[in-house]
Amino acid sequence: MKKIAILFSGAGSNLAYILEHLHQKKVEVVLTISNNPNAKGIKYAKKYNIPCVIIDSKAFALREDFDNALVEEIQKHSIDLSVLAGFMRILTPVFTDNIKSINLHPSLLPKFKGLKAIERTYKSDDEFGGVSVHWVNSELDAGEIIVQKQISKVGLSFDEYLEQIKTIEKIALCEAIEKSLLI
Ligand code: GAR
Repeated sequence: MKKIAILFSGAGSNLAYILEHLHQKKVEVVLTISNNPNAKGIKYAKKYNIPCVIIDSKAFALREDFDNALVEEIQKHSIDLSVLAGFMRILTPVFTDNIKSINLHPSLLPKFKGLKAIERTYKSDDEFGGVSVHWVNSELDAGEIIVQKQISKVGLSFDEYLEQIKTIEKIALCEAIEKSLLI
């Protein structure tokens, strides 16, 4: 089975979904990494007995040094693919040139790159919003799209829109993991 690492920063609902739906069925999650020592998602790695390495981004003055610590950790394991699932860090070429990875972003890229993508999509005049999973390169949220899913915003409150995004992003991410492991 192909081996993946999952990187996350917060609640970890995407991590939990991957563990429930893909782990030891389609892929093996052998490593998780959080840049946030207080991330709520750490408990999911523990539940499945998967190592969760904390690399506290606040402990590094330079982005490159933090990225180097990520690369060193990932390279200790024979990982086929790293998955950024709610990993809220801008990565430098130190990471992107060395690690094959995909990223989940909650907008219809190339629209609404960066932070607060769900809020900005909702506030926009666009009729549709959605989620994207893309290959990671050195440009923020700009790599080739692997999977994209869209929903209509018409008639939805913000909370309803958010809930639908949270549902479809997990399905999109799992589809993209399977698809990118075939390449
Ligand atoms: C998800 O909604 C994901 O799309 C978003 O962070 C959330 C993490 O949730 N990612 C980004 O905004 C990336 N720029 P989770 O911790 O519950 O998986």
